Amino acid sequence: MGKFQVIDHPLIQHKLTIIRDKDCGTKVFREVVDEIAMLMAYEISRDMPVEDIEIDTPIVRSTQKTLSGKKVAIIPILRAGIGMVDGILQLIPAAKVGHIGMYRDEETLIPHEYFVKLPDDIDSRQLLVVDPMLATGGSAIMAIDSLKKRGASNIKFVCLVAAPEGVKALQDAHPDVDIYVAALDEKLNEDGYIVPGLGDAGDRLFGTK
Ligand code: PRP
Ligand code: URA
Repeated sequence: MGKFQVIDHPLIQHKLTIIRDKDCGTKVFREVVDEIAMLMAYEISRDMPVEDIEIDTPIVRSTQKTLSGKKVAIIPILRAGIGMVDGILQLIPAAKVGHIGMYRDEETLIPHEYFVKLPDDIDSRQLLVVDPMLATGGSAIMAIDSLKKRGASNIKFVCLVAAPEGVKALQDAHPDVDIYVAALDEKLNEDGYIVPGLGDAGDRLFGTK
């Protein structure tokens, strides 16, 4: 089974509270989602491998560390995943970015894929699939199915708020995928929204309704 980690750093908890508040407007919501994504990327990259290289400092020749693992691609699930990309790119600026468009049917909660555009070397990259919300898990499961069908195998899923139901469904469907969340909430309500959650992440990020 892949790793499941709640990244509950005090800064992340504080920032999540800001965006959970229904009076938080689009501008602040966007900024804080990016900040949380950046902080999560710092923690998620903790186990990246490093290797020795020789460099010349202004003083001596010296053996130092440099990143040596797979190159990264960030895959936001549209729309809301887009809100997390820039924050992660601040720490991993050379990452490529692929997009998977999914929307949940509001009645059935069944996800539908409507767009896929990926770097052509996803099979050799460490993929960070990002979406602020993991509710039933349907969207994340279908997005990862789609990536695996195209050759991806090293996948981490990163979200801000997860419901226990979604975590279990994703673990059952893709036990090889590591899951990182900023908060594990209580449950889903009868409309498929996370409780307490933060509402509709896409609408809050983009100011739609
Ligand atoms: C939201 C969210 C996830 C999905 C989670 O997207 O961003 O992708 O719902 O729900 P699930 O775990 O039950 O599948 P939505 O379908 O609202 O699309 P949007 O981002 O375009 O608003
Ligand atoms: N999608 C959202 O944007 N919010 C939820 O609470 C559930 C799914």
